[in-house]
Amino acid sequence: MSNLSNKNVLLGISGSIAAYKSAELIRRLQDSGATVRVVMTKSATEFITPLTMQALSQNPVHTELLDEVSESAMGHIELARWADFLIVAPASANLIAELTHGRSDNLLTAICLATSSDILLAPAMNQRMWLNPATQENVALLKSRGYYISTPEDGDQACGETGPGRMAEPNQIISLTNTLFQSDLLTGTNILITAGPTREPLDPVRYLTNHSSGKMGFALAEAACSAGAKVTLVTGPVNLQTPRYVVRYDVETAQDMLETCLEHAPSADIFIGCAAVSDYRPKYRNSEKIKKTDEFFKLELIRNPDVVSHVAGKFERMFCLGFAAETHHVLENARQKLLTKKLDLLVANDVSNPEIGFDSDLNEVSLIWHKGEEKLQQATKTVIAKQIINRLAALYIDSRN
Ligand SMILES: Cc1cc2nc3c(=O)[nH]c(=O)nc-3n(C[C@H](O)[C@H](O)[C@H](O)COP(=O)(O)O)c2cc1C
Repeated sequence: MSNLSNKNVLLGISGSIAAYKSAELIRRLQDSGATVRVVMTKSATEFITPLTMQALSQNPVHTELLDEVSESAMGHIELARWADFLIVAPASANLIAELTHGRSDNLLTAICLATSSDILLAPAMNQRMWLNPATQENVALLKSRGYYISTPEDGDQACGETGPGRMAEPNQIISLTNTLFQSDLLTGTNILITAGPTREPLDPVRYLTNHSSGKMGFALAEAACSAGAKVTLVTGPVNLQTPRYVVRYDVETAQDMLETCLEHAPSADIFIGCAAVSDYRPKYRNSEKIKKTDEFFKLELIRNPDVVSHVAGKFERMFCLGFAAETHHVLENARQKLLTKKLDLLVANDVSNPEIGFDSDLNEVSLIWHKGEEKLQQATKTVIAKQIINRLAALYIDSRN
């Protein structure tokens, strides 16, 4: 069953030549089980008629901010509350700029400002308009505020130019919406998640660590929460806000992380080991700052416990997901890890590309489980996290039946 089944989707249409694709999008949303209402900007009505949209959506089309028909004369608030999810497709460069500035002088922008539901924008415009730094900065700012973006495609454009800016196809928008629209598949489950790096001290002022930012683990915690799970997050030192409703424990070393996980694992149904745990730690921890003496300094390291293997080995009934950050032979090493660490699902992360992975907001991963594999396209960590949680939920439910 689609995640959009029985959901209310508000489709916003702005003034772009790609508005004709919205007609198809309405049909595809309805095929997925959604009820669709349409809001059009004044310019949008120049590209496609409200009548067409009304006939397709089987609901009146809204275009005016001042709505005398609505019960409270506040149609924008009523529609903002009605929508479980908003899609603006096509999103014009102008509309994107208006949203960036929090403007609300038309019905569509007022709804976007007033809603507490998630919003997905499908930009469509001439390639120069899309590549213009003003648009790029607006999109980046909206992304950082939690808007989702269906990246436009590269190709021939209606204006005769070639480049990025073509609106994503309705099927792609539906598939992204399905991913983003989280169902309550994990209601009633407890999930334990590790995130961030660990710090292994050498002396009171120095430590060994890695580049993990914790963004992926935090995004997973948020996505698992939206899917209905109760989430406990054990994190190394990071500079991130705790997602709402997530219970957080801060730790420093691999050993601290393991102890905290073992304390909470007995009540967990699912374990997600996303932290980048240091494989080794200094054998000795000096109580005083190490002085600079000789030309060379020999550092002796010993193995740290493998947190994921420990937890997966000790709690065999628990569903376990691990991460494999690799710089070469990514898939082969990941398949091996799935078996040796006794995991149910593994996320293979190629960290050789600095554009994605560790400190970036983007990621590109492959999911590997015992009966299948799936490559996820490059996307923000928020989107990747939702895709991982959807797959995990499906496999977890399967494993219990
Ligand atoms: C024929 C034509 C095609 C247009 N196509 C686009 C487009 O694809 N994307 C876009 O951002 N603007 C496009 N525009 C410009 C917008 O329609 C214009 O910026 C308008 O003010 C947008 O209004 P809205 O954002 O309130 O809908 C086009 C204009 C014309 C005349």
